[in-house]
Amino acid sequence: MYLKLPSGAKMPVLGLGTWEAISDEEIETAVNTALDFEYRHIDTAWVYENEGAIGKVLKKRFASGLKRKDVFITTKLPMTGVHPERVSMFMEKSLANLQLDYVDLYLIHFPVGCKYYEGETRPKFNDKGEIETEGRTDHGALWKKMEELVDSGKAKNIGLSNYNISQIETILQNAKIKPAVLQVELHVYLQQRELVEFCQKNKIVVVAYSPLGNPGMNKFLQKLGQQPRQLANILEDPVVGEIAKKHKKTPAQVALRFLVQRGCAVIPKSVTPKRIDENRKLFDFVLSDEEMKALQGLDVGEAARVCDFKVFGGLDKHPDFPFTRQ
Ligand SMILES: NC(=O)c1ccc[n+]([C@@H]2O[C@H](COP(=O)([O-])OP(=O)(O)OC[C@H]3O[C@@H](n4cnc5c(N)ncnc54)[C@H](OP(=O)(O)O)[C@@H]3O)[C@@H](O)[C@H]2O)c1
Repeated sequence: MYLKLPSGAKMPVLGLGTWEAISDEEIETAVNTALDFEYRHIDTAWVYENEGAIGKVLKKRFASGLKRKDVFITTKLPMTGVHPERVSMFMEKSLANLQLDYVDLYLIHFPVGCKYYEGETRPKFNDKGEIETEGRTDHGALWKKMEELVDSGKAKNIGLSNYNISQIETILQNAKIKPAVLQVELHVYLQQRELVEFCQKNKIVVVAYSPLGNPGMNKFLQKLGQQPRQLANILEDPVVGEIAKKHKKTPAQVALRFLVQRGCAVIPKSVTPKRIDENRKLFDFVLSDEEMKALQGLDVGEAARVCDFKVFGGLDKHPDFPFTRQ
């Protein structure tokens, strides 16, 4: 199943997420398993530090029959690249990592720019533990550089991630090529109806990230030495569980199907073959209107946001921080 982008490109509704799939072994297993299970959409980013490993797997698969045109590869301009003068450089770096001539989709990962230091892959933090950000983002100038990537054939489609409505409006006002996609956190507990409706009205395809509410988030926080958080668990929600039972499906499949029926693409991440298999089985059942309504009733709103980017201390003070400040 596909969603059509304004360029005419067909983006598979289901993609493999790869954030926190870091070791070469994990990537090799996850990407090969996903391709074997007919996933044809892979989501990565410069900051995931796994583009190189993904590139190696793709190279082998292309050599053994997979056609480049049959896979949809997304990667993202990091916050350290959110500056008109750095877009092209980061695109080249990602293409070199992925060993590709072009990506199918290039997204601005986050609307705030961070200082870039040659040779550093991650943003830097000051003595107070705050991330070193740039000043206000010049969204118009940045977007022009993104458009140049389409003109040069390096990116077939361009889009945004973690932008809010007013920031998307700013881009739309001056765009020669409109953003094809908005990738944002979306799951049964964070439904963002106004944002999704705005995008759909403007023919921007919405890709749901953390579609399962990222049950692995605390492992990530622990790795950074941060306190674990009290995260609501979608996969143990009784309403989700009840609906799953009725359809002889799993809670994960219901959580993903809910988003697909809202017209969104989903990119669940897993490095576990059994789950990669489970997460693709979304297209042989339909949630009824009543079930959709019951799931809509689970929306918690902003408080359920998992990827609030607060691991980057001080980011929420930046004027271009896109989420409601809490
Ligand atoms: N643009 C952005 O700012 C942004 C932010 C976050 C994420 N993303 C993208 O979206 C992708 C998905 O989001 P996410 O990784 O945050 O969260 P997610 O896909 O909602 O959840 C991933 C976690 O769920 C586990 N899992 C996967 N399938 C499962 C199943 N069927 N049953 C039980 N557990 C399951 C995975 O474990 P195992 O891997 O151990 O199986 C992993 O810990 C990312 O990988 C990334 O590509 C983008």
